[in-house]
Amino acid sequence: TWTSANIVEEQIALIREQVGDSRVISALSGGVDSAVSTALVQRAIGDRLTAVFVDHGLLREGEAEQVELDYVAATGVDLKVVDAREQFLGHLAGVTDPETKRKIIGREFIRVFEAAEAEVLATPGPPVKFLVQGTLYPDVVESGGGEGAATIKSHHNVGGLPEDLEFSLIEPLRALFKDEVREVGRQLGIPEAIVGRHPFPGPGLAIRIVGAVDADRLRILRAADAIVRQETTAAGLDSSIWQFPVVLLADVHSVGVQGDGRTYGHPVVLRPVSSEDAMTADWTRLPYELLERISTRITNEVREVNRVVLDVTSKPPGTIEWE
Ligand code: XMP
Repeated sequence: TWTSANIVEEQIALIREQVGDSRVISALSGGVDSAVSTALVQRAIGDRLTAVFVDHGLLREGEAEQVELDYVAATGVDLKVVDAREQFLGHLAGVTDPETKRKIIGREFIRVFEAAEAEVLATPGPPVKFLVQGTLYPDVVESGGGEGAATIKSHHNVGGLPEDLEFSLIEPLRALFKDEVREVGRQLGIPEAIVGRHPFPGPGLAIRIVGAVDADRLRILRAADAIVRQETTAAGLDSSIWQFPVVLLADVHSVGVQGDGRTYGHPVVLRPVSSEDAMTADWTRLPYELLERISTRITNEVREVNRVVLDVTSKPPGTIEWE
């Protein structure tokens, strides 16, 4: 029978068997999946795990700090932080195609991990042979890993990996859906603030900027997204929303009037969705009062944004993310 305790026990045994005497590097992103998979592997092999957090500069406001402080405080995991913000922005410059963005980000992730591996290898100990990935069952299916499934998007943690990958993968969540992952996380004692976090894509805000990614566009999207999260939390609605992407239409301008004058700014799209497993989703019927507060605050506080629009498309036909 399925219980989170059984899953933890079973996975710990499997991880120990797979890893043997080797050391392991984990990809910690700040999301639920990598937090839980990392905690599972740590539980199995202790200090032979080094968690690497790549700050790719594509996270939301405050998230890098949450990984570096809160998660470490909660788990005591051995964390190596790599500041790769310049590197990612440089490679993404001018790139607008969503799949190309994903492939670049997946490729740079692996490069950074290889560099981190070299540093870990320079310390005495067994060889580093494995990389932890927080791949879930829906990721496997959507990337064509399931029987007869077509490739819809090459999620960087499954389909976008480069062919010269040096690590074998440990994917302890591969058979699980999100709600099951949260249960496993609770079983492992990870704080609710992390376990209850909404899913966030590995490529981060890069796939929520429709158009090329640069530091200024990231700043604008981060500011709008932070307002959405503050107001949603204040309204007590976090746990009734599966995910709430905020999308910046960076190449679209529209005319507005803000303050004393005419503006020619960007729209942001609100994409709140309700879902069980991200494979299908419905747009969330948010209270008008919340939408009004979000709209007023964004257009007042983020001067580059003069229009806030609501995405009322279910999945299918729309995917949750815009890219
Ligand atoms: P879509 O947009 O396909 O998203 O409906 C389904 C779920 O997957 C997340 N997502 C990603 N996660 N790498 C990830 O790790 C990716 O490239 C990626 N693309 C989408 C998305 O946020 C949603 O939860």
